[in-house]
Amino acid sequence: MKDINITTGFSRLDKDQKIDLVASKVPDPELFSQTLHASWHRDPATQKMIDEFSENTLGNYFFPYGIAPNFLINGKMYMVPLVIEESSVVAAASGAAKFWAVRGGFHSEILGLEKIGQVHFSWNGGHELIARHFSEIRKQMFANTSRITANMVKRGGGILNIELVDMTDKIPDYYQVKATFDTRDSMGANFINSCLEEFADTLRDYAAGCIDFSIYSLQVIMSILSNYTPSCLVRTWVEGEIIEDGHHYDDLYTDREFVTRFETGVRIAQVDRYRATTHNKGIYNGIDAVVLATGNDFRAVEACGHAYASRNGEYSSLSKVEISGNTFRFSLEVPMALGTVGGLTHLHPLAKLSLQLLGNPDATELMMIASAAGLANNYSAVKSLVTKGIQKGHMKMHLLNILNVYQATDEEKKQTVEFFKHEKVSHSAVSGFLDSIRG
Ligand code: MEV
Repeated sequence: MKDINITTGFSRLDKDQKIDLVASKVPDPELFSQTLHASWHRDPATQKMIDEFSENTLGNYFFPYGIAPNFLINGKMYMVPLVIEESSVVAAASGAAKFWAVRGGFHSEILGLEKIGQVHFSWNGGHELIARHFSEIRKQMFANTSRITANMVKRGGGILNIELVDMTDKIPDYYQVKATFDTRDSMGANFINSCLEEFADTLRDYAAGCIDFSIYSLQVIMSILSNYTPSCLVRTWVEGEIIEDGHHYDDLYTDREFVTRFETGVRIAQVDRYRATTHNKGIYNGIDAVVLATGNDFRAVEACGHAYASRNGEYSSLSKVEISGNTFRFSLEVPMALGTVGGLTHLHPLAKLSLQLLGNPDATELMMIASAAGLANNYSAVKSLVTKGIQKGHMKMHLLNILNVYQATDEEKKQTVEFFKHEKVSHSAVSGFLDSIRG
């Protein structure tokens, strides 16, 4: 085997020692160290808290924190905070929000709030025997978790159901305890996992003490929540009138032409998984940005959405278009497990402010806001794609990144932005223009 260098004891070093060690691996250690120190929060107590979110923290990694104003959702106006590094996403969300605000805004409804967790176990005594004992096991599971669930029950949530699932057609001797939960305004991961581990202990103890089970073996394999929550679901839509021969939506096409092209664009994402992936990525540009801005878990939200997009056996679009007479309706149905209490929501300084800016929503309201941001981005992306194309707008927004690569001064930026108001933006065109003004 090739020589490998294992780093030991890294986690036990203090922060400066870690920075020195890591800095010694890069070409400019001084710059590395300075950049990390410069990234620290000016308030040491806040920085300490941020350090403790994760492990081996050396500094903070900056992402832009932006605002898309004019989101009218169920009649209430929001300024939506978005954390995203990609140019044109905030502009796209803002553009669509403003467009729809004067056409009734976004409409949204919650279709369910149920979360799921599983204890996966193996049992070689057959389905009939364990099923016969399961109502007693289930009763003990409820009783043994009462300490954990007491507060959640006071808030109106708790364990909704516990059932036995026979999975032996997939893996010999494989069963699950599948439980559903209502975690109110918390995302609920810790609550669910604690309940599941208590279920697992109850199951083990019951098996060990039950005479009928004595000649068989029951082994708990693992206990963990499922990030697939198809019954924690929000539906959001916009609806507009199609004016025959009118140019309500776009200057290039009449309304009828536009909505037909738009519908075809979305239908392609319903039947082709290559397009569906990019289409849904555009939806998550908006959703993830809200999820991040409010201190929620974007990996869980994305994983869940993509699984849901494949629920019928083929990966497909999460949004759909319905045209009925003179009405155009564009909707998005997406599962997501969000929290407005617990986790980082009130620890991360900007997450806390984001929630304040949104009027301290509960989890259901936040689901509606995040899905509206997703639908807004999806609308803007598909609209651009089926009309003037995506690059024109995107490259205009990306222009400042290109200028920063060439270390343009403020004056050079001003001149270049003015020039490219009427020209196609590309890396080489910008570099050529900069050369020309720099002589
Ligand atoms: C880019 O971040 C997102 C888009 O590709 C989405 C789409 O194609 O629908 C523009």
